[in-house]
Amino acid sequence: MLTPRLECIVSHVRGRVVGDIGCDHAYVPIQLVESGRAERVIASDLNRGPLEAARRNIEKHGFSDRIETRLGGGLSVLAPNEADVIIIAGMGGELIEEMLRADEETAKKSHLILQPMNSQYELRKFLILNGYKIAAEDMALEGFKVYNVIEAHFGGAEPFEREFDYQIPPCLYGHRYFKNLYAKKKREFEKIVHGLENASDYNKEKYELYKYFLKELNEIENI
Ligand SMILES: C[S@@+](CC[C@H](N)C(=O)[O-])C[C@H]1O[C@@H](n2cnc3c(N)ncnc32)[C@H](O)[C@@H]1O
Repeated sequence: MLTPRLECIVSHVRGRVVGDIGCDHAYVPIQLVESGRAERVIASDLNRGPLEAARRNIEKHGFSDRIETRLGGGLSVLAPNEADVIIIAGMGGELIEEMLRADEETAKKSHLILQPMNSQYELRKFLILNGYKIAAEDMALEGFKVYNVIEAHFGGAEPFEREFDYQIPPCLYGHRYFKNLYAKKKREFEKIVHGLENASDYNKEKYELYKYFLKELNEIENI
């Protein structure tokens, strides 16, 4: 049984060859093959420990012929065009951005399923400013925690109309976990604004940006 976050990621994947970067336990690759959502998976990790655990789990489920493990950092384990879908999940938005920048050619040739644990605003900006289209977004809820899942591919980037939309894209309005995301964002923006109000090195630009985010947030409270 997968957690809601991993279930949500799996539900967005369908491919012949799928790359799971930072696979850790390999729960996602196993579920992808078991459910028929992927024919083959390349499961990679930077560290030997998690990759060993992945290998044992894959073997236990009898999928060693369909899930290949590779040791290495980011997308460097894949050749361009090798995987039609690439998953990068459970990592910080900045690290995900770093990986996409480092192996741009590979990133641009696959459909991307990204699940950033933070810096979602910055990651959306990076994607769109670098020519990626955000094809879909989804959310999962575990306890009080909301997780974002972003589907993107290179080409046909559509910049959002307002700066605020990079924080909460309009496609998430009406999502069953919208209220949870709303509450999380409100707490985050208020904390930043209060922090800046009390900071000795007052950052006017950032303060005004987050005041604007709070104002926009209030306007969508009851949508
Ligand atoms: C928090 S776990 C997430 C595991 C899984 N993707 C998930 O969503 O549950 C992060 C995993 O990524 C691996 N990792 C960290 N940096 C990496 C990198 N640059 N390239 C590949 N794997 C990395 C870690 O060793 C760890 O197993």
